[in-house]
Amino acid sequence: MSHDISDNSPQAHGASHGSEVAEHGNPFADPGLPAHLPRRTDIDERAAKRAERQVSLLFIVSMLATIGFIASYVIFPIDKIVYIFPLGHVSALNFALGMTLGVALFCIGAGAVHWARTLMSDHEIPAERHPIEADDEVRADVIEQFKTGAAESGFGRRKLLRNTLIGSMALVPLSGVVLLRDLGPLPEQKLLHTGWDKATPQNPIALINMNTNRPMKAEDIVQGSLTFAKPEGLEEDAPDFQQQIAKDALMLVRIAPGDLKDQQSAELGFDGILAYSKICTHVGCPISLYEQQTHHALCPCHQSTFDLADGARVIFGPAGHPLPQLKITTDEQGFLVATGDFDEPVGPSYWERPR
Ligand code: FES
Repeated sequence: MSHDISDNSPQAHGASHGSEVAEHGNPFADPGLPAHLPRRTDIDERAAKRAERQVSLLFIVSMLATIGFIASYVIFPIDKIVYIFPLGHVSALNFALGMTLGVALFCIGAGAVHWARTLMSDHEIPAERHPIEADDEVRADVIEQFKTGAAESGFGRRKLLRNTLIGSMALVPLSGVVLLRDLGPLPEQKLLHTGWDKATPQNPIALINMNTNRPMKAEDIVQGSLTFAKPEGLEEDAPDFQQQIAKDALMLVRIAPGDLKDQQSAELGFDGILAYSKICTHVGCPISLYEQQTHHALCPCHQSTFDLADGARVIFGPAGHPLPQLKITTDEQGFLVATGDFDEPVGPSYWERPR
């Protein structure tokens, strides 16, 4: 079917096609395209000129913003902080770069959209679908080639070959079925407990600094710092060290008592020192970034953010649970010790997790 769009009437084509089908009794006849309504810029040359100037202006603003981006990069020192309402104190350089680049990109996009909506042709043109079925001649040729190939391979004649091929093809998928066994056995209680579960108030376990490999006193933990710890007795040369540290790793922070928002979490700690699992509750990455002023810990994998001053509540990201917390205190000599296991299973959720 030919499309004559030179007379600006594709709708005429759609309408004639629709009536053609309707004539053959199709109850779902193509209604064709609605009548084309010219825009103001199609019929008023002054409006078209005005739109052209608006688009050009947006592109010029984009150019100026790009120049501003380069100038900001040269002008602003990297450590200059300014106050901008309502953002508060921000880096002047980052703010200027972000604003200028944002304006430059926005103006290019806005200019392109305005150009398309006001000045580019908006006639709709139907494109007919072509049948995807091959014609009879091609199909006959393919069938002929297949038969020739089958005869030449001897598939029908050499029965031993054919049957052993069918047998091997039937058995191969069994390898995949056997591998399904690796989905088990179920972890049962293993993920519910960590190396801290042997700790009791009578037999506490000391927290060992993972950098110095020594026990820590409460006074060693300074406010604003982040310290990683493991249970006493877990040695790095132990054969199951990696398996065990994946559950036992601790993150210690000290927060001014006045900043603590969760009373229950504060009681699990000692004098503002809180011990949380280092294992993210999303899919188990180790958390290693801490922002001391906000008390936020950030998981580098998918940016889950936990408020350590508020019981490690999730404030952003895909993690579904707060970080589990370990109850700690000090022994007679002032060393930090744990008196029990985490308050809930560490790591990501799984099917048998009680909560
Ligand atoms: S593993 Fe931490 S956010 Fe995904």
